[in-house]
Amino acid sequence: MNLKDKVCIITGSARGIGRSIAERFITDGALVAIADLRMGDAQKTADELTATGPGKAIGLEMNVTDEAAVNAGIQTVIDTWGKVDVLVSNAGIQIVHKIEDFPFGDWKKLLSIHLDGAFLTTKACLPHMYKAGSGSIILMGSVHSKEASPLKSAYVTAKHGLLGLARVISKEGAAHGVRANVICPGFVKTPLVEKQIPEQAKELGISEADVVNNVMLGETVDKEFTTVEDVAEIAHLFASFPTNALTGQSLVVSHGWFME
Ligand SMILES: NC(=O)c1ccc[n+]([C@@H]2O[C@H](COP(=O)([O-])OP(=O)(O)OC[C@H]3O[C@@H](n4cnc5c(N)ncnc54)[C@H](O)[C@@H]3O)[C@@H](O)[C@H]2O)c1
Repeated sequence: MNLKDKVCIITGSARGIGRSIAERFITDGALVAIADLRMGDAQKTADELTATGPGKAIGLEMNVTDEAAVNAGIQTVIDTWGKVDVLVSNAGIQIVHKIEDFPFGDWKKLLSIHLDGAFLTTKACLPHMYKAGSGSIILMGSVHSKEASPLKSAYVTAKHGLLGLARVISKEGAAHGVRANVICPGFVKTPLVEKQIPEQAKELGISEADVVNNVMLGETVDKEFTTVEDVAEIAHLFASFPTNALTGQSLVVSHGWFME
């Protein structure tokens, strides 16, 4: 099972987990669209990954909450490579507050990036996948698709919601050979997590070391962060799996923080 010449769109892939997934796919010969907020960042990553090959990448400027921008980005991919085989809806942010202090604007912003982003990109890709009779849609969930943590009401709500969306895509897409699955990582040390360490220390009134060892990794089997490479390997499995046998699923990759 490999991704040679498969056309893959990955949102939020200028850096972090998305970039690592792009790297893994390109190592396997895929053609990858790096979609992110700023063209400069997306193109820089695309150029760096193309230089390593054997696959190729292009940069796309895309705010996943903007329907016109999403549709234009997917159209660029179709104009460039003529099809779309894999969508990884990965773009995401984190905002932490107690519920009673959570600004409504921040709540709506977070839900929009995670949920509207997954919906709009899926909606734009499905007609092309249906036409081809195959496709793989991967939504980036989290252990927070399964578990709750204090201060993360918007994030936990959004990540639980993605499980529902993936299950509906699986049911509607099956007749067209389109499958959908969710990756649920534990804490991965990316800029998104680095930012949370001092924020949570302040909100919870504990040291940064306690945030890492007790709050983030306290329930893991070995006090280790999951890596971007770990997550990319699961994305590769979901992207390359050939049949509807693997659809509507969520896979937790978290050093045993959450076991099901
Ligand atoms: N890092 C973790 O511990 C962890 C754990 C579980 C799940 N996740 C999920 O993995 C995904 C990636 O997280 P990360 O840690 O790599 O984050 P990151 O902050 O390192 O990267 C996120 C990327 O998304 C982009 N982005 C943000 N808003 C966007 C928008 N509106 N449109 C397009 N792009 C946008 C950013 O520019 C950035 O390049 C997120 O969905 C996150 O919730 C992360």
